[in-house]
Amino acid sequence: MSITVTRQERIALITVDRPERLNALDTPTLRALLETLRELAADESTCVMLLTGAGERAFIAGADISEMAEKSPAEALAFAELGHAVCRAIEEAPQPVIAVVNGYALGGGCEIALACDIRLASDRAVFGQPEVKLGIPPGWGGSQRLPRLVPPGIARELLYTGRRITADEALRIGLVNAVYPAAELLDRAWQLAQQIAANGPVAVRLTKAATRFGDEHGLAAGLAYERQCFAYAFTTEDQREGMRAFLEKRQPQFRGR
Ligand code: CAA
Repeated sequence: MSITVTRQERIALITVDRPERLNALDTPTLRALLETLRELAADESTCVMLLTGAGERAFIAGADISEMAEKSPAEALAFAELGHAVCRAIEEAPQPVIAVVNGYALGGGCEIALACDIRLASDRAVFGQPEVKLGIPPGWGGSQRLPRLVPPGIARELLYTGRRITADEALRIGLVNAVYPAAELLDRAWQLAQQIAANGPVAVRLTKAATRFGDEHGLAAGLAYERQCFAYAFTTEDQREGMRAFLEKRQPQFRGR
């Protein structure tokens, strides 16, 4: 299996498991990843997803170059559409998705990390959009998501040069939330996921939906959507439980409804 899923209660860890290719994504692996993301997105018992790469060297070293090398333009378009579908599945998943970047995140690997809600990196992580060095532009959203995440001039420099950056530089430009020693990264990621999963599941989903809506449709529409999310929360047991627990000075027991 090129994609594996490990669960800890309400958290699912997805691992791209092709270490002999530094977890580069070919069509079968991309399809398996898409299917896994869609299954977990539809699973109400999953509150947070973590995404990482197998082995100690790579998160995802990009799209599989040996598969791409002989593609026709029509095949390249289909491959770009599949990569975009994976990135959209991450963005549109109701749960937060955390990229756990344990090594190379290049090209399509960086683009998949960009689609995640949060990025944590090991001190060995290396990011970059080296597509131009292969004679192609980014194909899985890098030209759009990188300039929306980091200062646009820096994004453009990285996109035009294909320069690789270290985890420290990625932290400095805001590409990642935090950098940890490689041996600690996964534990730190589980801890962050647990912190999120301890909150009201509906509230976390509404919060992701509202931030996404504003990203897609602009501030005014995002604010209007946020008001609706806020009002909707008052139809849930979790809202009553969360506020009652505060007033009774105890931990809330959220049930996700
Ligand atoms: N596609 C296919 N195979 C890949 C790969 C990729 N993206 N990245 C690494 N591999 C393979 C290597 O070919 C090698 O296979 P063999 O053992 O059969 O030779 C194996 O993984 C190990 O890699 P290296 O021997 O190259 O390891 P290294 O330590 O010398 O270098 C590296 C590591 C710097 C990551 C280097 O492998 C590399 O530059 N990889 C390509 C990175 C890249 O350009 N990614 C972008 C792809 S284009 C893209 O993603 C388009 C898009 O927008 C969707």
